[in-house]
Amino acid sequence: MKRIPVILDGDPGHDDAIAWVLANASPMLDIKAVTSCCGNQTMEKTTYNALRICTLIGLNVPVAKGRVKPFLKPPMVAPNVHGQSGLDGPKLPEPAFDVVPEDAVTLMARIIEESDEPITLVPTGPLTNIAALFMAHPELKKKISHIYLMGGGIHHGNWAPAAEFNIQVDPEAAAYVFAAGVPITMAGLDVTEKAQIYPEEFEIIRGLGSKVATTVAEWFDFFFQYHKSLNGYKGAAVHDAVAIVAMTNPEIFEVKDMYVEVETDSEYCNGATIGDVHGVLGKKPNVHVLWNLDRDAFAKILIDAVRTYGEVSE
Ligand code: BDR
Ligand code: CA
Repeated sequence: MKRIPVILDGDPGHDDAIAWVLANASPMLDIKAVTSCCGNQTMEKTTYNALRICTLIGLNVPVAKGRVKPFLKPPMVAPNVHGQSGLDGPKLPEPAFDVVPEDAVTLMARIIEESDEPITLVPTGPLTNIAALFMAHPELKKKISHIYLMGGGIHHGNWAPAAEFNIQVDPEAAAYVFAAGVPITMAGLDVTEKAQIYPEEFEIIRGLGSKVATTVAEWFDFFFQYHKSLNGYKGAAVHDAVAIVAMTNPEIFEVKDMYVEVETDSEYCNGATIGDVHGVLGKKPNVHVLWNLDRDAFAKILIDAVRTYGEVSE
Protein backbone atom coordinates (compact mmCIF):
# COMPACT_ATOMS: atom_id res chain seq x y z
CA MET A 1 0.00 0.00 0.00
CA LYS A 2 1.27 3.46 -0.91
CA ARG A 3 1.40 5.44 2.31
CA ILE A 4 0.40 9.11 2.56
CA PRO A 5 3.33 11.30 3.69
CA VAL A 6 2.14 13.59 6.47
CA ILE A 7 3.45 16.23 8.85
CA LEU A 8 1.66 16.50 12.20
CA ASP A 9 1.54 20.01 13.67
CA GLY A 10 -0.13 20.45 17.05
CA ASP A 11 -0.25 21.89 20.56
CA PRO A 12 -0.62 18.72 22.63
CA GLY A 13 -3.10 18.64 24.40
CA HIS A 14 -5.03 15.43 25.17
CA ASP A 15 -6.87 15.19 21.86
CA ASP A 16 -3.74 16.10 19.84
CA ALA A 17 -1.97 13.28 21.70
CA ILE A 18 -4.75 10.82 20.90
CA ALA A 19 -4.74 12.00 17.28
CA TRP A 20 -1.03 11.19 17.08
CA VAL A 21 -1.61 7.77 18.68
CA LEU A 22 -4.08 7.10 15.84
CA ALA A 23 -1.81 8.46 13.13
CA ASN A 24 1.14 6.40 14.32
CA ALA A 25 -1.02 3.28 14.34
CA SER A 26 -2.26 3.70 10.77
CA PRO A 27 -0.50 1.66 8.07
CA MET A 28 -1.84 4.25 5.59
CA LEU A 29 0.27 7.10 6.92
CA ASP A 30 3.97 7.84 6.68
CA ILE A 31 4.70 10.45 9.36
CA LYS A 32 7.61 12.58 8.20
CA ALA A 33 7.81 14.99 11.14
CA VAL A 34 6.05 16.45 14.14
CA THR A 35 6.01 20.18 14.81
CA SER A 36 4.77 21.95 17.92
CA CYS A 37 2.72 25.09 17.95
CA CYS A 38 1.61 27.43 20.69
CA GLY A 39 -2.00 27.00 21.72
CA ASN A 40 -3.20 24.92 24.64
CA GLN A 41 -0.06 25.84 26.49
CA THR A 42 3.19 27.76 25.96
CA MET A 43 5.58 26.65 23.24
CA GLU A 44 7.97 25.21 25.87
CA LYS A 45 5.23 23.02 27.31
CA THR A 46 3.66 21.86 24.03
CA THR A 47 7.11 20.99 22.66
CA TYR A 48 7.99 19.01 25.78
CA ASN A 49 4.63 17.24 25.53
CA ALA A 50 5.20 16.47 21.84
CA LEU A 51 8.55 14.83 22.69
CA ARG A 52 7.03 12.82 25.54
CA ILE A 53 4.15 11.60 23.35
CA CYS A 54 6.53 10.56 20.56
CA THR A 55 8.66 8.72 23.12
CA LEU A 56 5.61 6.94 24.56
CA ILE A 57 4.29 5.75 21.20
CA GLY A 58 7.68 4.99 19.62
CA LEU A 59 7.33 7.63 16.93
CA ASN A 60 10.93 8.30 15.91
CA VAL A 61 10.69 11.25 13.55
CA PRO A 62 12.18 14.75 13.67
CA VAL A 63 10.35 17.01 16.10
CA ALA A 64 10.72 20.77 15.64
CA LYS A 65 9.64 23.71 17.71
CA GLY A 66 7.23 26.19 16.16
CA ARG A 67 6.67 29.92 16.47
CA VAL A 68 6.36 31.05 20.06
CA LYS A 69 3.33 33.26 19.59
CA PRO A 70 0.45 34.04 17.24
CA PHE A 71 0.95 36.65 14.51
CA LEU A 72 -0.80 39.59 16.16
CA LYS A 73 -2.54 38.43 19.31
CA PRO A 74 -0.84 37.55 22.59
CA PRO A 75 -0.78 33.80 23.32
CA MET A 76 -3.94 32.36 24.90
CA VAL A 77 -3.71 29.06 26.78
CA ALA A 78 -6.34 26.59 28.04
CA PRO A 79 -5.30 25.14 31.44
CA ASN A 80 -8.97 24.63 32.33
CA VAL A 81 -9.18 22.03 29.55
CA HIS A 82 -5.72 20.43 29.47
CA GLY A 83 -4.20 21.32 32.87
CA GLN A 84 -1.16 23.38 33.81
CA SER A 85 1.25 21.11 31.93
CA GLY A 86 -0.94 21.19 28.84
CA LEU A 87 -1.25 17.42 29.18
CA ASP A 88 -2.21 16.68 32.77
CA GLY A 89 -3.15 13.19 33.93
CA PRO A 90 -0.95 10.13 33.57
CA LYS A 91 2.79 10.25 34.16
CA LEU A 92 4.58 10.20 30.82
CA PRO A 93 8.09 9.03 29.96
CA GLU A 94 10.76 11.70 29.77
CA PRO A 95 11.75 12.47 26.15
CA ALA A 96 14.16 9.92 24.69
CA PHE A 97 15.38 12.53 22.20
CA ASP A 98 15.44 16.28 21.68
CA VAL A 99 14.04 18.66 19.08
CA VAL A 100 16.02 19.11 15.88
CA PRO A 101 17.99 22.35 15.49
CA GLU A 102 15.72 23.58 12.66
CA ASP A 103 12.55 25.42 13.61
CA ALA A 104 9.15 24.07 12.51
CA VAL A 105 8.87 26.17 9.36
CA THR A 106 12.41 25.34 8.21
CA LEU A 107 11.89 21.63 8.84
CA MET A 108 8.51 21.53 7.08
CA ALA A 109 9.90 23.47 4.12
CA ARG A 110 12.90 21.16 3.76
CA ILE A 111 10.76 18.00 3.93
CA ILE A 112 8.30 19.36 1.36
CA GLU A 113 11.10 20.55 -0.93
CA GLU A 114 12.99 17.26 -0.79
CA SER A 115 9.92 15.05 -1.18
CA ASP A 116 9.20 13.42 -4.55
CA GLU A 117 5.51 13.40 -3.75
CA PRO A 118 3.16 16.00 -2.30
CA ILE A 119 2.87 16.19 1.47
CA THR A 120 -0.30 16.31 3.58
CA LEU A 121 -0.37 18.64 6.60
CA VAL A 122 -2.42 17.84 9.70
CA PRO A 123 -2.61 20.86 12.01
CA THR A 124 -4.51 20.26 15.23
CA GLY A 125 -3.71 23.55 16.95
CA PRO A 126 -3.66 27.22 15.90
CA LEU A 127 -2.50 27.69 12.31
CA THR A 128 0.49 29.92 13.13
CA ASN A 129 3.20 27.58 11.80
CA ILE A 130 1.28 26.73 8.64
CA ALA A 131 0.65 30.39 7.80
CA ALA A 132 4.32 31.17 8.47
CA LEU A 133 5.30 28.33 6.12
CA PHE A 134 3.06 29.67 3.33
CA MET A 135 4.32 33.24 3.82
CA ALA A 136 7.98 32.22 3.75
CA HIS A 137 7.65 29.62 0.96
CA PRO A 138 4.62 30.35 -1.23
CA GLU A 139 6.18 28.22 -3.99
CA LEU A 140 5.77 25.12 -1.78
CA LYS A 141 1.98 25.38 -1.61
CA LYS A 142 1.70 23.41 -4.84
CA LYS A 143 3.56 20.53 -3.20
CA ILE A 144 1.00 20.23 -0.44
CA SER A 145 -1.71 17.84 -1.49
CA HIS A 146 -4.13 18.54 1.34
CA ILE A 147 -4.58 20.08 4.76
CA TYR A 148 -6.70 18.11 7.23
CA LEU A 149 -7.20 20.54 10.08
CA MET A 150 -9.06 20.66 13.36
CA GLY A 151 -10.44 24.12 13.81
CA GLY A 152 -13.45 26.34 13.46
CA GLY A 153 -17.13 25.61 13.46
CA ILE A 154 -19.71 26.77 10.93
CA HIS A 155 -22.56 26.83 13.43
CA HIS A 156 -20.89 28.10 16.58
CA GLY A 157 -17.70 28.41 18.61
CA ASN A 158 -16.48 27.07 21.91
CA TRP A 159 -14.07 29.74 23.16
CA ALA A 160 -16.28 32.61 22.11
CA PRO A 161 -19.88 32.33 20.93
CA ALA A 162 -18.76 32.32 17.30
CA ALA A 163 -15.11 31.23 17.50
CA GLU A 164 -13.44 27.91 18.11
CA PHE A 165 -10.23 27.89 20.20
CA ASN A 166 -7.63 27.02 17.50
CA ILE A 167 -8.88 29.72 15.16
CA GLN A 168 -9.47 32.29 17.87
CA VAL A 169 -5.89 31.99 19.16
CA ASP A 170 -4.51 33.16 15.81
CA PRO A 171 -7.28 34.38 13.47
CA GLU A 172 -4.86 36.15 11.13
CA ALA A 173 -2.91 32.93 10.56
CA ALA A 174 -6.13 31.00 10.01
CA ALA A 175 -7.45 33.57 7.54
CA TYR A 176 -4.21 33.29 5.57
CA VAL A 177 -4.33 29.49 5.45
CA PHE A 178 -8.02 29.32 4.47
CA ALA A 179 -7.32 31.71 1.61
CA ALA A 180 -4.13 29.96 0.46
CA GLY A 181 -5.69 27.90 -2.31
CA VAL A 182 -4.53 24.56 -0.85
CA PRO A 183 -7.27 21.89 -0.53
CA ILE A 184 -8.61 21.91 3.03
CA THR A 185 -10.74 19.44 4.95
CA MET A 186 -12.04 21.12 8.07
CA ALA A 187 -12.80 19.07 11.16
CA GLY A 188 -14.66 21.81 12.99
CA LEU A 189 -16.95 21.72 15.99
CA ASP A 190 -19.90 20.84 13.73
CA VAL A 191 -18.51 17.32 13.58
CA THR A 192 -15.93 17.09 16.36
CA GLU A 193 -18.45 17.73 19.13
CA LYS A 194 -20.19 14.59 17.90
CA ALA A 195 -16.91 12.63 18.03
CA GLN A 196 -17.35 11.74 21.68
CA ILE A 197 -15.82 8.74 23.36
CA TYR A 198 -17.94 7.48 26.25
CA PRO A 199 -16.74 6.40 29.72
CA GLU A 200 -17.55 2.74 29.00
CA GLU A 201 -15.19 2.99 26.02
CA PHE A 202 -12.44 4.41 28.25
CA GLU A 203 -12.75 1.11 30.12
CA ILE A 204 -12.45 -0.97 26.94
CA ILE A 205 -9.25 0.94 26.14
CA ARG A 206 -7.94 0.57 29.70
CA GLY A 207 -8.67 -3.14 29.51
CA LEU A 208 -6.26 -3.54 26.60
CA GLY A 209 -3.57 -3.22 29.23
CA SER A 210 -0.60 -1.89 27.23
CA LYS A 211 1.30 1.17 28.41
CA VAL A 212 -0.14 3.24 25.53
CA ALA A 213 -3.70 1.99 26.20
CA THR A 214 -3.47 2.77 29.92
CA THR A 215 -2.15 6.24 29.15
CA VAL A 216 -4.87 6.93 26.58
CA ALA A 217 -7.55 5.80 29.07
CA GLU A 218 -6.09 8.12 31.71
CA TRP A 219 -5.94 10.99 29.22
CA PHE A 220 -9.64 10.40 28.64
CA ASP A 221 -10.30 10.37 32.40
CA PHE A 222 -8.68 13.80 32.67
CA PHE A 223 -10.14 15.27 29.48
CA PHE A 224 -13.67 14.13 30.38
CA GLN A 225 -13.63 16.23 33.56
CA TYR A 226 -13.81 19.35 31.38
CA HIS A 227 -16.40 17.95 28.99
CA LYS A 228 -18.62 16.82 31.86
CA SER A 229 -18.88 20.45 32.92
CA LEU A 230 -20.40 21.40 29.55
CA ASN A 231 -24.03 21.01 28.62
CA GLY A 232 -25.11 17.72 27.11
CA TYR A 233 -21.78 15.88 26.87
CA LYS A 234 -21.97 12.12 27.45
CA GLY A 235 -18.28 11.66 26.70
CA ALA A 236 -15.02 13.37 25.82
CA ALA A 237 -14.98 15.02 22.39
CA VAL A 238 -11.67 14.01 20.79
CA HIS A 239 -11.69 16.93 18.35
CA ASP A 240 -8.19 16.52 16.93
CA ALA A 241 -8.48 12.79 16.27
CA VAL A 242 -11.23 13.59 13.74
CA ALA A 243 -8.67 15.23 11.44
CA ILE A 244 -6.73 11.95 11.27
CA VAL A 245 -9.77 9.72 10.82
CA ALA A 246 -11.06 12.01 8.06
CA MET A 247 -7.95 11.06 6.13
CA THR A 248 -7.87 7.34 6.92
CA ASN A 249 -11.64 6.62 6.96
CA PRO A 250 -13.46 9.22 4.84
CA GLU A 251 -16.40 6.80 4.43
CA ILE A 252 -17.67 7.49 7.97
CA PHE A 253 -18.24 11.22 7.32
CA GLU A 254 -20.85 13.42 5.71
CA VAL A 255 -19.12 16.36 4.01
CA LYS A 256 -20.33 19.69 2.59
CA ASP A 257 -18.15 21.74 0.28
CA MET A 258 -18.47 25.49 0.76
CA TYR A 259 -16.69 28.80 0.73
CA VAL A 260 -15.26 29.55 4.18
CA GLU A 261 -13.55 32.72 5.33
CA VAL A 262 -12.11 33.58 8.75
CA GLU A 263 -13.32 36.76 10.42
CA THR A 264 -10.43 38.92 11.71
CA ASP A 265 -12.08 42.26 12.29
CA SER A 266 -15.15 42.01 14.47
CA GLU A 267 -15.95 42.69 18.08
CA TYR A 268 -18.08 39.59 18.57
CA CYS A 269 -17.06 37.30 15.73
CA ASN A 270 -13.27 37.53 15.66
CA GLY A 271 -11.92 34.08 14.80
CA ALA A 272 -15.25 32.81 13.45
CA THR A 273 -15.18 30.55 10.40
CA ILE A 274 -17.95 31.99 8.25
CA GLY A 275 -19.27 29.24 5.98
CA ASP A 276 -21.43 30.08 2.99
CA VAL A 277 -23.67 27.04 3.47
CA HIS A 278 -26.19 28.08 0.81
CA GLY A 279 -23.67 29.52 -1.64
CA VAL A 280 -25.19 32.99 -1.51
CA LEU A 281 -21.85 34.69 -2.21
CA GLY A 282 -21.40 32.77 -5.44
CA LYS A 283 -17.77 32.07 -4.56
CA LYS A 284 -16.03 28.81 -5.38
CA PRO A 285 -15.99 26.43 -2.39
CA ASN A 286 -12.52 26.32 -0.79
CA VAL A 287 -13.16 23.91 2.08
CA HIS A 288 -14.55 20.39 2.51
CA VAL A 289 -16.43 20.87 5.77
CA LEU A 290 -17.00 17.70 7.79
CA TRP A 291 -20.64 17.87 8.75
CA ASN A 292 -21.49 14.62 10.49
CA LEU A 293 -19.96 11.26 11.32
CA ASP A 294 -20.84 7.73 12.30
CA ARG A 295 -19.90 8.02 15.98
CA ASP A 296 -19.88 4.29 16.69
CA ALA A 297 -17.59 3.64 13.72
CA PHE A 298 -15.31 6.45 14.92
CA ALA A 299 -15.08 4.95 18.40
CA LYS A 300 -14.29 1.52 16.96
CA ILE A 301 -11.53 2.95 14.76
CA LEU A 302 -10.01 4.67 17.77
CA ILE A 303 -10.16 1.57 19.99
CA ASP A 304 -8.71 -0.61 17.21
CA ALA A 305 -5.87 1.88 16.74
CA VAL A 306 -4.98 1.70 20.43
CA ARG A 307 -5.15 -2.10 20.20
CA THR A 308 -2.27 -2.08 17.70
CA TYR A 309 0.05 -1.01 20.55
CA GLY A 310 -0.47 -4.43 22.08
CA GLU A 311 -2.85 -6.22 24.38
CA VAL A 312 -1.87 -7.55 27.76
CA SER A 313 -4.08 -10.42 28.95
CA GLU A 314 -4.60 -10.80 32.68
C1 BDR B 1 -9.34 22.42 20.03
O1 BDR B 1 -8.86 23.17 21.14
C2 BDR B 1 -7.92 22.43 21.85
O2 BDR B 1 -8.13 22.57 23.23
C3 BDR B 1 -8.02 21.00 21.41
O3 BDR B 1 -6.77 20.35 21.46
C4 BDR B 1 -8.55 21.12 19.99
O4 BDR B 1 -7.49 21.22 19.06
C5 BDR B 1 -10.84 22.24 20.17
O5 BDR B 1 -11.47 23.47 20.15
CA1 CA C 1 -5.19 20.78 19.67
